[in-house]
Formats: sequence, structure tokens, C-alpha cells
Amino acid sequence: QATSIPSDRVPDMGKRELMNLLLLGALSLPTAGMLVPYASFFVPPGAGGAGGGTIAKDALGNDVIASDWLKNHGPGDRTLTQGLKGDPTYLVVENDRSLATYGINAVCTHLGCVVPWNAAENKFICPCHGSQYNYQGRVVRGPAPLSLALAHADIDDGKVLFVPWVETDFRTGEDPWWA
Ligand code: FES
Repeated sequence: QATSIPSDRVPDMGKRELMNLLLLGALSLPTAGMLVPYASFFVPPGAGGAGGGTIAKDALGNDVIASDWLKNHGPGDRTLTQGLKGDPTYLVVENDRSLATYGINAVCTHLGCVVPWNAAENKFICPCHGSQYNYQGRVVRGPAPLSLALAHADIDDGKVLFVPWVETDFRTGEDPWWA
């Protein structure tokens, strides 16, 4: 009986330590996330590329070359690329055939479905619960509470570079909820 006490306690202590580790990890994750916009504030957009941004990737995982993209995507086009933190992000072709200087994060602000572009309606319409966003991603119908997040779409050495958007949301005139 005497020997069973330590052998019972050892796995118990092990579990507790594991729990502590998991708790520590859970606590430090949000902290790490908060550092990203904080750090990017000090990095001028488009300066170097290594610090502030992520090169957009196409559906095949290749870097998006702006000139090639514009050959294959006409005015008004909105096509998904892989953006900051791997988020699906629309590259926008303006009516004058230039690339918009902003990308639209496709993650619905309601419960996170990827929102498809509906060219016929000129809106993004979420298939999950019907939220709607205008052609720039501004929410126009709930249940989504907020507009789609923005990222800067810069051109760096011919490639499209997404940089965190920390300035005023030009669609609403408000501070960005995502930064
Ligand atoms: Fe888009 Fe609910 S997740 S409307």
C-alpha cells in the first residue's frame, strides 16, 4: 500500500505540469498575435518586404506577379489569393485595369466562412447565414457585425505584397477592428 502512493502521484503531477504548459501556451498566443500589428507599425509599408508583409500566393501556391495577374484577370475581377497569416484574401482589379491598393480578407466576420464574390450581384454573399458585403467588403447585411478586413496590396519587385492595414478603414471612416 505504501508504494502505491508515489506511483499514483507521479502521473498526476505529470498531468498537472502538462496542463500548466498548455495554459502558458494559451496565454502567450494572444500576446504574440498582438505583437504583429504593433511591430508592423514601425515598418514602412513596402520597405524591403521581409519585415512587414507577405507575398500573395495564387491557387497553386506560386507568388503572384502583378503584370501576369492583370493579363489573366480583367476589370472588376475579385479572385482569392493567400494573404497575411495564410488568410484567403481577394485581389481586386479596378475598372481601369490596375490592381487595387487593398486586398479584401474573405473570412466572414460572423462565424468565419469564406465569403464568395458574386459578380452578378456586385457583392460578396456568405453562403453560411446570408451576410452581404459590398464590392469593397463593407458589410451591408447581417448577421455579420463588421466589414471584411483589409490589407494593403503593394507591389514589391513586380510581386504583390500584402502588408497589414493599420490605418483608418476608408470604407467606414473608423479605426480598423482587425488591427
Ligand atoms: Fe457568414 Fe454566418 S459565417 S453569415
